[in-house]
Amino acid sequence: MREYSRLLAIAGVATLVAACGKATEDNGTGSGTAPLPTAATLGEQVVLDAGEYLAAAPYRDADRSNGERQAQICKACHSFDRDGPNMIGPALHGFFGTKAGSRGGFDYSDVLRRADFVWTPEALDAWLAQPGRFLPGNRMTFGGVLKQEDRNDLIAYLLTATTDSGE
Ligand code: HEC
Repeated sequence: MREYSRLLAIAGVATLVAACGKATEDNGTGSGTAPLPTAATLGEQVVLDAGEYLAAAPYRDADRSNGERQAQICKACHSFDRDGPNMIGPALHGFFGTKAGSRGGFDYSDVLRRADFVWTPEALDAWLAQPGRFLPGNRMTFGGVLKQEDRNDLIAYLLTATTDSGE
């Protein structure tokens, strides 16, 4: 009997873990929307100037001051300014439109160095929602920005803070 209730407890925990795993998978996608892409499913990316992204939805209507607040945590590991240094993470000035894992002088994980995609807002959105899901095995120790709206605001802010053209 005792064994039996222990088994039940274990089954209960397993169900809970499965449910949590599911919830995590759904993170950032909102309810009823298509799942975010991963590095493997991104496909061909259309690269525009920062100013062009900022002129179109959803970034046109974004709250960049909220974006700046969201970006404070990134600044613990990344510089945004022109000629900013590599820190714990690579320097991000000018990274939009460049190949992932290609900043000079930064010691990337193998998966990011070998990744074959370009940083567009779409790629960044999926990366920031859940870095470990977007590109398994990467070394960015960051849980993710869960809310789509916060990510839109953050990306709109980064389109100005890390570029010369978007200001
Ligand atoms: C705890 C430190 C840390 C934090 C916080 C952090 N990052 Fe990173 N980031 C890294 C590291 C380390 C890498 C390199 C990962 C690798 O090599 O796998 C990275 C990689 C990146 C890359 C890929 C750059 C390239 O050259 O391909 C982008 C983009 C990025 N981070 C954006 C952000 C943004 C935006 C935030 C804030 C929401 C953020 N990161 C927060 C450490 C961090």
